[in-house]
Amino acid sequence: MSKKLWGGRFQKGTDKVVEDFHSSISFDQRLYKQDIRGSMAHARMLGQQGIIAETDARAIIAGLEGILIDIEAGRIEFDVAAEDIHMNIEKILTERIGDIGKKLHTARSRNDQVALDIRLYLRDEIAETHALLADLIATLLDTAEANLDTIMPGYTHLQKAQPITLAHHLLAYVQMFDRDRDRLADCARRLNRSPLGSGALAGTTFPLDRLAVAKELGFDGITENSLDGVSDRDFAIEFCAAASLTMMHLSRFCEEIILWSSQEFAFIELDDAYSTGSSMMPQKKNPDVAELIRGKTGRVYGDLMALLTVMKSLPLAYNKDMQEDKESLFDAVDTVKGCLTVFTPMIATMRVRRETMKNGARGGFTNATDVADYLAKKGVSFREAHEIVGKMVLLCVQKGVALDDLAFDDFRACSDAFGEDIYEAIQVERCVADRKVPGGPAPEAVKEAIAQARRRLKEQ
Ligand code: ARG
Repeated sequence: MSKKLWGGRFQKGTDKVVEDFHSSISFDQRLYKQDIRGSMAHARMLGQQGIIAETDARAIIAGLEGILIDIEAGRIEFDVAAEDIHMNIEKILTERIGDIGKKLHTARSRNDQVALDIRLYLRDEIAETHALLADLIATLLDTAEANLDTIMPGYTHLQKAQPITLAHHLLAYVQMFDRDRDRLADCARRLNRSPLGSGALAGTTFPLDRLAVAKELGFDGITENSLDGVSDRDFAIEFCAAASLTMMHLSRFCEEIILWSSQEFAFIELDDAYSTGSSMMPQKKNPDVAELIRGKTGRVYGDLMALLTVMKSLPLAYNKDMQEDKESLFDAVDTVKGCLTVFTPMIATMRVRRETMKNGARGGFTNATDVADYLAKKGVSFREAHEIVGKMVLLCVQKGVALDDLAFDDFRACSDAFGEDIYEAIQVERCVADRKVPGGPAPEAVKEAIAQARRRLKEQ
């Protein structure tokens, strides 16, 4: 059994079962870069403050540089007995540079060290997720621009409701993903404080320059309470919550892609490169990518629940339970990034069947509201107009025709407010074009929405 870095007060080695059980190196080795970066900043500051000799600080930093290169080159094998990434690196450092390596951990605990590493890690991952969302939004805006006039039925209760355009529908998702970006930026802003100097829980007696370390590591400041500095995982939970919302948005979108690519809708056709076949049924072309993203949403919700539950009821400050934060967080990061990476090109390459969409908008009395609006504009109260048109729809259902198919006499029989211009007023194109209200589906309103979304994309 190997000698532990913390082995001084022990008379016996750790049981092998315990060693395997509580080791986190299998998954926290992912944090090696952040760990080394943090250690370098810490060592430099220790030297500058005269807490250790400047020459020692330099030797430590050089040693860490070498370890970083070797890890990246795959030349290092981590040791389960050294528990986690923090102690593995410290152990290798000491093997390489001798006793000087043992000075690195002065005025530091793994508790503030791990809190630092996760913050550094998540800060980068948030930036990447943010950029992936920007790519998706840009793709949606391009597709929307090409479909400003692509009329389709809008639904409520998955029943045809009113005509809209594909551009307008896509712009709804732009809003969602834009809020997701905002949430991520907000999470990054809150997490961007250095916990180093919190020590195990009660700070340290050494004259650290916390701000210098924070500055070197690109933080906006330092955490303000040493207990909170080591025991806060809010940022990881916030990320998982934001990621859950993104997954929820993706999942709703995927559900629509799945519906739209079904033979019953046939609104779109996915590119062959983003669909898969069946091992038995030769004719099949399935929207597996969309289904898988829909399915993976559950994982990210699970990650969020896992983190919330791990943190629930933990007394201050650090508790080993918190080691369980990493796998959930990593999984949420990997899943949301992976889904965004495949979703965007799937949308960019899908073929829109404009005619089917438009025909869909013609059925189902999607212009019934417009008939009622027509009457209301001629002075009939809306409630009364609603009643009149409801009766007209019933008549049409019985005759098996659309509102546009009714003879003018039929219109007049229902209300003498109808003029010949009713036919023109209830063309689906007209119904869409007249909805110019800001945020509405009229091509000119959507054009403005696209311009605004593009401006936002540039700003952030
Ligand atoms: N591997 C630990 C974690 O991920 C590092 C902190 C350990 N601290 C301790 N006092 N056991 O949480």
